Amino acid sequence: MINRSLGTSGLEVSAIGFGCMGLNHGYGHSLTENDAVAVIRSAVDLGVTFFDTAEVYGPYTNEELVGKALAPVRDQVVIATKFGFSIDGGRSTGLDSRPDHIRTTVEESLRRLDIERIDLLYQHRVDPQVPIEDVAGTVKELIEAGKVGHFGLSEAGVEIIRRAHVVQPVTALQSEYSLWWREPEAEIIPTLHELGIGLVPFSPLGKGFLTGTISGATSFSDSDVRSNLPRYSEQMRTAHQSLVDLVTAIGARNNATPAQVALAWILAQHPTNVPIPGTTKLHRLQENTAAVDVELSATDLDQLNAASAEVDLSTDRYPAHMQRWINR
Ligand SMILES: NC(=O)c1ccc[n+]([C@@H]2O[C@H](COP(=O)([O-])OP(=O)(O)OC[C@H]3O[C@@H](n4cnc5c(N)ncnc54)[C@H](OP(=O)(O)O)[C@@H]3O)[C@@H](O)[C@H]2O)c1
Repeated sequence: MINRSLGTSGLEVSAIGFGCMGLNHGYGHSLTENDAVAVIRSAVDLGVTFFDTAEVYGPYTNEELVGKALAPVRDQVVIATKFGFSIDGGRSTGLDSRPDHIRTTVEESLRRLDIERIDLLYQHRVDPQVPIEDVAGTVKELIEAGKVGHFGLSEAGVEIIRRAHVVQPVTALQSEYSLWWREPEAEIIPTLHELGIGLVPFSPLGKGFLTGTISGATSFSDSDVRSNLPRYSEQMRTAHQSLVDLVTAIGARNNATPAQVALAWILAQHPTNVPIPGTTKLHRLQENTAAVDVELSATDLDQLNAASAEVDLSTDRYPAHMQRWINR
């Protein structure tokens, strides 16, 4: 595994991180705690030093298992978590980035993760009720108090990124970005490069779609988030199958899997991109981390860029009750 720097912040992480969400949240099934801990520790063994969780995953239980898994190697890894939702009855009920709520959430995340400092703390979603200057100012105080290392945003737009960055330099933006979702390239990514902010692409495998294991015919259980995503409808998957076929064909001529091509494409876009694929399976973890060794040719990249430029970006990514949390 090789390292990358998140923007100009100096925060060094493995070029491919690990998204811990799906271990027990989002996809309708949970690993046992022991199995989830084993997956995370295998990621460490493979050289991964960047782990992503959030208060809202579970809620709460994902942070606990990440803390447990990483306790023996705490000083060798970068742990990122997120605040920004109100949680009631075991689910997120709305946004809440009021300063007092941020401070309380950070204390609880520190306790659940069993650490003294959160290395990278993201605002999970922009809260239109709270000026971003107040959010950034609160995180700045937490950094000065030694409870947080770096500040990040998730799914924020350019105006918010710029305003936040004035108050407290932003180390990373975590946003959906993949061959299946290149919308951030229009305005957001140029702004990140101008300001020296790293990009942490989430759902870099298109929640599995880009791996070639999902087609229009695949069905998902009601508890799998993909059953409710407009961009995951049977029609959308069928419409974009040709993109997956190309990813698969380019993999074949590079002796790589489709998942590796999808990750190698992200790594090739910019030296401070650090994708965080998730998986519950050890063999896929090995496969995904090995994507650092896949080098796509200029022809491969041109073909992938041309095909992915045809992707329909007009359909919402989330159902209405979640889409309203994307405030740019
Ligand atoms: N900031 C945000 O709002 C936000 C939103 C979503 C996610 N995230 C973060 O980003 C991380 C990753 O995103 P994600 O889970 O949405 O999407 P992803 O990493 O693109 O895809 C994960 C899905 O792909 C499957 N998969 C992984 N590797 C595979 C392979 N090599 N071959 C075939 N299938 C494979 C996994 O299934 P198996 O488990 O069966 O392998 C899982 O269903 C999350 O864990 C979370 O930390 C952040």
